[in-house]
Amino acid sequence: MKIKIKMTTHGDDARKYKNVMDFASNLNPYGVSKKTLQAVTNNLNKISQYPDSDCTELRKELARYNNINPENIIAGNGSAEIIRLFCEVFLNRGDGVLITVPSFSEYGANAKLFGGKIEYVGLNPYDNFKIGVDEILNKVNNNTRIIFLCSPNNPTGKLISKEDVQKIVKENPQTHIFLDEAFIEFSKQNSLAEEVEKYKNLFILRSMTKFFGLAGLRVGYGIGNKNLIKRLSDLKLVWNVNSLAQIAAIESLKDEEYIRDSKDLMGGEKQNLFKKLSVIPGIRIYPSDANFFLINIKDTGLRSHEMKMKLLERGILIRDCSNFRGLNENYVRICVRTREDNEKLINAIKEII
Ligand SMILES: Cc1ncc(COP(=O)(O)O)c(C=O)c1O
Repeated sequence: MKIKIKMTTHGDDARKYKNVMDFASNLNPYGVSKKTLQAVTNNLNKISQYPDSDCTELRKELARYNNINPENIIAGNGSAEIIRLFCEVFLNRGDGVLITVPSFSEYGANAKLFGGKIEYVGLNPYDNFKIGVDEILNKVNNNTRIIFLCSPNNPTGKLISKEDVQKIVKENPQTHIFLDEAFIEFSKQNSLAEEVEKYKNLFILRSMTKFFGLAGLRVGYGIGNKNLIKRLSDLKLVWNVNSLAQIAAIESLKDEEYIRDSKDLMGGEKQNLFKKLSVIPGIRIYPSDANFFLINIKDTGLRSHEMKMKLLERGILIRDCSNFRGLNENYVRICVRTREDNEKLINAIKEII
Protein backbone atom coordinates (compact mmCIF):
# COMPACT_ATOMS: atom_id res chain seq x y z
CA MET A 1 0.00 0.00 0.00
CA LYS A 2 1.31 3.49 -0.90
CA ILE A 3 1.36 6.07 1.89
CA LYS A 4 0.38 9.59 0.96
CA ILE A 5 2.45 12.42 2.35
CA LYS A 6 1.53 16.05 2.12
CA MET A 7 4.14 18.25 0.43
CA THR A 8 5.34 20.86 2.89
CA THR A 9 6.08 24.45 1.99
CA HIS A 10 9.68 25.41 2.66
CA GLY A 11 11.39 28.80 2.64
CA ASP A 12 12.09 28.43 -1.07
CA ASP A 13 9.24 30.44 -2.52
CA ALA A 14 11.50 33.30 -3.73
CA ARG A 15 10.97 31.99 -7.27
CA LYS A 16 7.30 32.99 -7.07
CA TYR A 17 8.09 36.65 -6.55
CA LYS A 18 10.04 38.88 -8.91
CA ASN A 19 12.84 41.12 -7.64
CA VAL A 20 12.46 40.40 -3.95
CA MET A 21 15.26 40.42 -1.42
CA ASP A 22 15.22 36.81 -0.23
CA PHE A 23 15.47 36.68 3.56
CA ALA A 24 13.61 33.34 3.56
CA SER A 25 15.87 30.73 1.95
CA ASN A 26 18.88 31.04 4.31
CA LEU A 27 21.39 31.09 1.45
CA ASN A 28 24.84 32.66 1.35
CA PRO A 29 24.16 36.27 0.19
CA TYR A 30 27.36 36.18 -1.90
CA GLY A 31 25.74 33.52 -4.09
CA VAL A 32 27.99 30.98 -5.75
CA SER A 33 31.79 31.46 -5.88
CA LYS A 34 33.04 33.12 -9.07
CA LYS A 35 35.57 30.33 -9.63
CA THR A 36 32.74 27.80 -9.44
CA LEU A 37 30.67 29.71 -11.95
CA GLN A 38 33.66 29.80 -14.31
CA ALA A 39 34.30 26.08 -13.92
CA VAL A 40 30.66 25.28 -14.71
CA THR A 41 30.75 27.53 -17.77
CA ASN A 42 33.99 25.90 -18.99
CA ASN A 43 32.46 22.43 -18.70
CA LEU A 44 29.06 22.87 -20.29
CA ASN A 45 30.02 20.32 -22.97
CA LYS A 46 29.99 17.62 -20.23
CA ILE A 47 26.21 17.55 -20.28
CA SER A 48 26.23 15.16 -23.22
CA GLN A 49 27.99 12.48 -21.13
CA TYR A 50 26.85 10.49 -18.12
CA PRO A 51 28.19 11.71 -14.79
CA ASP A 52 30.38 9.53 -12.56
CA SER A 53 27.75 7.62 -10.62
CA ASP A 54 30.16 7.08 -7.69
CA CYS A 55 31.15 10.78 -7.52
CA THR A 56 34.75 9.59 -7.10
CA GLU A 57 36.49 12.97 -7.45
CA LEU A 58 33.83 14.80 -5.47
CA ARG A 59 34.01 12.33 -2.60
CA LYS A 60 37.81 12.67 -2.57
CA GLU A 61 37.52 16.44 -2.32
CA LEU A 62 34.83 16.18 0.36
CA ALA A 63 37.09 13.78 2.27
CA ARG A 64 39.94 16.30 2.19
CA TYR A 65 37.60 19.13 3.25
CA ASN A 66 36.24 17.11 6.18
CA ASN A 67 39.44 15.27 7.12
CA ILE A 68 37.88 11.83 6.66
CA ASN A 69 38.02 9.04 4.03
CA PRO A 70 36.02 8.92 0.78
CA GLU A 71 34.57 5.57 1.95
CA ASN A 72 32.82 7.51 4.72
CA ILE A 73 30.90 9.65 2.23
CA ILE A 74 27.84 9.33 0.03
CA ALA A 75 26.89 12.20 -2.28
CA GLY A 76 23.29 13.06 -3.08
CA ASN A 77 21.07 15.18 -5.26
CA GLY A 78 20.83 17.72 -2.46
CA SER A 79 20.84 16.58 1.15
CA ALA A 80 17.07 16.08 0.83
CA GLU A 81 17.78 12.99 -1.28
CA ILE A 82 19.91 11.53 1.50
CA ILE A 83 17.12 11.99 4.06
CA ARG A 84 14.82 10.00 1.76
CA LEU A 85 17.44 7.31 1.09
CA PHE A 86 18.28 6.91 4.77
CA CYS A 87 14.63 6.30 5.67
CA GLU A 88 14.22 3.92 2.73
CA VAL A 89 17.23 1.82 3.76
CA PHE A 90 16.93 1.79 7.52
CA LEU A 91 13.24 2.06 8.37
CA ASN A 92 10.88 -0.88 8.57
CA ARG A 93 7.15 -0.39 8.93
CA GLY A 94 6.30 0.37 12.57
CA ASP A 95 9.85 1.38 13.58
CA GLY A 96 10.01 4.24 16.06
CA VAL A 97 11.41 7.62 14.97
CA LEU A 98 12.14 10.53 17.32
CA ILE A 99 12.14 14.07 15.95
CA THR A 100 12.68 17.28 17.90
CA VAL A 101 10.31 20.12 16.96
CA PRO A 102 10.31 22.72 15.62
CA SER A 103 12.71 21.45 12.97
CA PHE A 104 13.08 20.74 9.26
CA SER A 105 9.91 19.00 8.08
CA GLU A 106 11.51 16.52 5.67
CA TYR A 107 12.52 14.13 8.48
CA GLY A 108 8.89 13.54 9.43
CA ALA A 109 7.63 13.46 5.84
CA ASN A 110 10.15 10.80 4.79
CA ALA A 111 9.93 8.74 7.97
CA LYS A 112 6.16 8.60 7.46
CA LEU A 113 6.59 7.59 3.83
CA PHE A 114 8.52 4.48 4.89
CA GLY A 115 6.14 3.53 7.68
CA GLY A 116 7.96 5.10 10.66
CA LYS A 117 6.01 5.62 13.87
CA ILE A 118 6.95 9.18 14.72
CA GLU A 119 7.21 10.69 18.17
CA TYR A 120 7.91 14.40 18.46
CA VAL A 121 9.96 15.94 21.27
CA GLY A 122 9.09 19.62 21.78
CA LEU A 123 11.89 22.17 22.25
CA ASN A 124 11.14 24.78 24.88
CA PRO A 125 10.84 28.42 23.67
CA TYR A 126 11.39 29.63 27.25
CA ASP A 127 14.81 27.95 27.17
CA ASN A 128 15.71 29.42 23.73
CA PHE A 129 14.67 26.09 22.16
CA LYS A 130 17.70 24.36 23.68
CA ILE A 131 17.73 20.63 23.07
CA GLY A 132 16.55 18.60 26.09
CA VAL A 133 18.91 15.62 26.08
CA ASP A 134 17.23 13.89 29.02
CA GLU A 135 13.82 14.36 27.44
CA ILE A 136 15.08 12.63 24.30
CA LEU A 137 16.74 9.83 26.25
CA ASN A 138 13.54 9.25 28.25
CA LYS A 139 11.54 8.76 25.07
CA VAL A 140 13.86 6.19 23.49
CA ASN A 141 12.70 2.56 23.68
CA ASN A 142 13.65 -0.78 22.08
CA ASN A 143 11.67 0.11 18.99
CA THR A 144 13.41 3.46 18.31
CA ARG A 145 15.28 3.11 15.02
CA ILE A 146 16.23 6.70 14.17
CA ILE A 147 16.64 9.93 16.17
CA PHE A 148 16.73 13.01 13.95
CA LEU A 149 18.72 15.96 15.29
CA CYS A 150 19.54 19.21 13.51
CA SER A 151 22.53 21.36 14.50
CA PRO A 152 22.30 24.30 14.05
CA ASN A 153 18.60 23.64 14.05
CA ASN A 154 16.33 25.05 11.39
CA PRO A 155 14.39 27.24 12.30
CA THR A 156 15.73 28.02 15.80
CA GLY A 157 19.41 28.43 14.89
CA LYS A 158 20.56 26.53 18.00
CA LEU A 159 23.58 24.24 17.98
CA ILE A 160 23.67 20.98 19.89
CA SER A 161 26.93 20.65 21.80
CA LYS A 162 29.37 17.88 20.93
CA GLU A 163 28.94 16.48 24.44
CA ASP A 164 25.14 16.32 24.10
CA VAL A 165 25.37 14.52 20.75
CA GLN A 166 27.94 12.09 22.17
CA LYS A 167 25.70 11.35 25.14
CA ILE A 168 22.74 10.50 22.89
CA VAL A 169 24.95 8.45 20.57
CA LYS A 170 26.70 6.50 23.35
CA GLU A 171 23.54 5.69 25.30
CA ASN A 172 21.71 4.38 22.21
CA PRO A 173 24.06 2.10 20.29
CA GLN A 174 21.14 0.29 18.59
CA THR A 175 19.60 3.51 17.24
CA HIS A 176 20.75 5.58 14.27
CA ILE A 177 21.50 9.15 15.32
CA PHE A 178 20.93 11.26 12.22
CA LEU A 179 22.60 14.63 12.78
CA ASP A 180 21.73 17.25 10.14
CA GLU A 181 24.54 19.80 9.87
CA ALA A 182 23.27 21.59 6.74
CA PHE A 183 24.14 24.96 8.33
CA ILE A 184 27.33 24.02 10.20
CA GLU A 185 29.66 26.22 8.10
CA PHE A 186 27.79 29.29 9.34
CA SER A 187 28.44 28.38 12.99
CA LYS A 188 31.50 28.54 15.19
CA GLN A 189 31.39 24.83 15.99
CA ASN A 190 33.26 22.24 13.94
CA SER A 191 31.37 19.45 12.25
CA LEU A 192 31.27 16.13 14.08
CA ALA A 193 32.28 14.41 10.83
CA GLU A 194 35.43 12.90 12.31
CA GLU A 195 33.41 11.10 15.00
CA VAL A 196 31.72 8.68 12.60
CA GLU A 197 34.40 5.99 12.71
CA LYS A 198 34.29 6.03 16.50
CA TYR A 199 30.49 5.87 16.72
CA LYS A 200 28.99 3.49 14.18
CA ASN A 201 25.45 4.68 14.89
CA LEU A 202 26.24 8.34 14.09
CA PHE A 203 25.34 9.64 10.64
CA ILE A 204 25.93 13.24 9.56
CA LEU A 205 24.09 15.12 6.86
CA ARG A 206 25.70 18.05 5.04
CA SER A 207 24.51 20.34 2.28
CA MET A 208 26.21 22.46 -0.37
CA THR A 209 22.99 24.44 -0.86
CA LYS A 210 23.26 26.96 1.94
CA PHE A 211 26.86 28.02 2.50
CA PHE A 212 28.15 27.30 -1.02
CA GLY A 213 25.06 28.64 -2.80
CA LEU A 214 24.47 25.58 -4.98
CA ALA A 215 20.72 25.34 -4.30
CA GLY A 216 19.77 24.98 -7.96
CA LEU A 217 22.42 22.39 -8.86
CA ARG A 218 21.57 20.12 -5.90
CA VAL A 219 24.51 18.71 -3.97
CA GLY A 220 24.41 17.26 -0.48
CA TYR A 221 26.23 14.43 1.24
CA GLY A 222 26.12 12.04 4.13
CA ILE A 223 29.00 11.01 6.38
CA GLY A 224 29.03 7.74 8.25
CA ASN A 225 30.76 4.54 9.08
CA LYS A 226 32.02 2.63 5.98
CA ASN A 227 29.51 -0.24 6.25
CA LEU A 228 26.59 2.09 6.70
CA ILE A 229 27.67 4.18 3.69
CA LYS A 230 27.96 0.99 1.63
CA ARG A 231 24.38 0.00 2.49
CA LEU A 232 23.16 3.43 1.39
CA SER A 233 25.30 3.44 -1.77
CA ASP A 234 23.98 0.01 -2.81
CA LEU A 235 20.45 1.38 -2.88
CA LYS A 236 20.93 4.90 -4.19
CA LEU A 237 19.67 5.94 -7.60
CA VAL A 238 22.30 5.55 -10.30
CA TRP A 239 23.83 8.87 -11.64
CA ASN A 240 22.09 10.80 -8.88
CA VAL A 241 24.47 13.81 -8.92
CA ASN A 242 24.80 15.42 -12.36
CA SER A 243 28.15 16.31 -14.00
CA LEU A 244 27.91 20.08 -13.54
CA ALA A 245 26.87 19.69 -9.91
CA GLN A 246 29.94 17.51 -9.24
CA ILE A 247 32.25 20.02 -10.95
CA ALA A 248 30.69 22.95 -9.11
CA ALA A 249 30.94 21.26 -5.73
CA ILE A 250 34.61 20.32 -6.21
CA GLU A 251 35.52 23.86 -7.28
CA SER A 252 33.59 25.44 -4.39
CA LEU A 253 35.32 23.30 -1.78
CA LYS A 254 38.71 24.40 -3.16
CA ASP A 255 37.91 28.12 -3.13
CA GLU A 256 39.43 29.08 0.21
CA GLU A 257 39.08 32.80 -0.37
CA TYR A 258 35.33 32.47 -0.97
CA ILE A 259 34.99 30.30 2.13
CA ARG A 260 36.89 32.81 4.28
CA ASP A 261 35.04 35.87 2.93
CA SER A 262 31.66 34.21 3.44
CA LYS A 263 32.51 33.36 7.05
CA ASP A 264 33.77 36.90 7.70
CA LEU A 265 30.63 38.48 6.26
CA MET A 266 28.45 36.28 8.40
CA GLY A 267 30.35 37.03 11.58
CA GLY A 268 30.01 40.81 11.38
CA GLU A 269 26.62 41.18 9.75
CA LYS A 270 24.92 38.68 11.98
CA GLN A 271 25.84 40.60 15.13
CA ASN A 272 24.77 43.90 13.60
CA LEU A 273 21.39 42.55 12.53
CA PHE A 274 20.76 40.90 15.91
CA LYS A 275 21.60 44.08 17.81
CA LYS A 276 19.39 46.31 15.68
CA LEU A 277 16.42 43.96 15.58
CA SER A 278 16.49 43.19 19.28
CA VAL A 279 15.81 46.83 20.24
CA ILE A 280 12.68 47.12 18.07
CA PRO A 281 9.63 47.08 20.40
CA GLY A 282 7.52 43.92 20.12
CA ILE A 283 10.28 41.86 18.51
CA ARG A 284 11.72 38.93 20.43
CA ILE A 285 14.71 37.59 18.55
CA TYR A 286 16.32 34.33 19.62
CA PRO A 287 20.12 34.04 19.72
CA SER A 288 21.32 31.91 16.80
CA ASP A 289 24.39 29.87 15.88
CA ALA A 290 23.42 29.88 12.19
CA ASN A 291 22.90 32.46 9.42
CA PHE A 292 19.26 33.06 10.32
CA PHE A 293 17.14 34.15 13.27
CA LEU A 294 13.82 32.95 14.59
CA ILE A 295 11.70 35.87 15.79
CA ASN A 296 8.60 35.95 17.98
CA ILE A 297 6.43 38.84 16.78
CA LYS A 298 3.41 38.31 19.07
CA ASP A 299 3.83 41.65 20.81
CA THR A 300 3.85 43.59 17.54
CA GLY A 301 0.16 42.69 17.12
CA LEU A 302 0.93 41.32 13.65
CA ARG A 303 0.58 37.68 12.69
CA SER A 304 3.30 35.94 10.70
CA HIS A 305 1.44 35.96 7.37
CA GLU A 306 0.53 39.64 7.86
CA MET A 307 4.13 40.57 8.48
CA LYS A 308 5.18 38.52 5.45
CA MET A 309 2.67 40.28 3.19
CA LYS A 310 3.52 43.76 4.48
CA LEU A 311 7.22 43.17 3.88
CA LEU A 312 6.53 41.69 0.45
CA GLU A 313 4.86 44.97 -0.50
CA ARG A 314 8.28 46.50 0.25
CA GLY A 315 10.18 43.95 -1.86
CA ILE A 316 11.30 41.77 1.06
CA LEU A 317 10.55 38.07 1.49
CA ILE A 318 10.69 36.47 4.94
CA ARG A 319 9.67 33.00 6.16
CA ASP A 320 6.26 32.74 7.80
CA CYS A 321 6.92 29.96 10.34
CA SER A 322 3.29 29.14 11.16
CA ASN A 323 3.48 25.80 9.30
CA PHE A 324 6.40 24.50 11.39
CA ARG A 325 5.18 21.82 13.80
CA GLY A 326 5.74 23.28 17.28
CA LEU A 327 5.44 26.93 16.16
CA ASN A 328 2.47 29.12 15.26
CA GLU A 329 1.55 32.45 13.67
CA ASN A 330 3.65 34.30 16.23
CA TYR A 331 6.89 33.27 14.53
CA VAL A 332 8.86 34.36 11.47
CA ARG A 333 12.41 33.58 10.36
CA ILE A 334 14.83 35.86 8.58
CA CYS A 335 18.37 35.20 7.33
CA VAL A 336 21.44 37.39 7.36
CA ARG A 337 22.28 39.13 4.08
CA THR A 338 24.65 41.96 3.14
CA ARG A 339 24.81 45.17 5.23
CA GLU A 340 22.77 47.12 2.66
CA ASP A 341 19.98 44.53 2.48
CA ASN A 342 19.90 44.04 6.24
CA GLU A 343 19.45 47.80 6.77
CA LYS A 344 16.53 47.75 4.32
CA LEU A 345 14.92 44.92 6.29
CA ILE A 346 15.38 46.71 9.62
CA ASN A 347 13.85 49.95 8.27
CA ALA A 348 10.94 48.09 6.65
CA ILE A 349 10.15 46.27 9.91
CA LYS A 350 10.22 49.57 11.82
CA GLU A 351 7.82 51.04 9.25
CA ILE A 352 5.20 48.31 9.51
CA ILE A 353 4.92 47.84 13.26
C1 LIG B 1 18.13 21.68 8.03
C2 LIG B 1 18.03 21.37 6.58
N1 LIG B 1 18.52 20.22 6.13
C3 LIG B 1 18.47 19.89 4.83
C4 LIG B 1 17.90 20.75 3.91
C5 LIG B 1 17.85 20.33 2.48
O1 LIG B 1 18.74 21.05 1.71
P1 LIG B 1 19.27 20.55 0.31
O2 LIG B 1 18.45 19.39 -0.14
O3 LIG B 1 19.11 21.71 -0.60
O4 LIG B 1 20.71 20.15 0.52
C6 LIG B 1 17.37 21.97 4.33
C7 LIG B 1 16.74 22.90 3.38
O5 LIG B 1 16.18 23.90 3.71
C8 LIG B 1 17.44 22.29 5.70
O6 LIG B 1 16.95 23.44 6.18
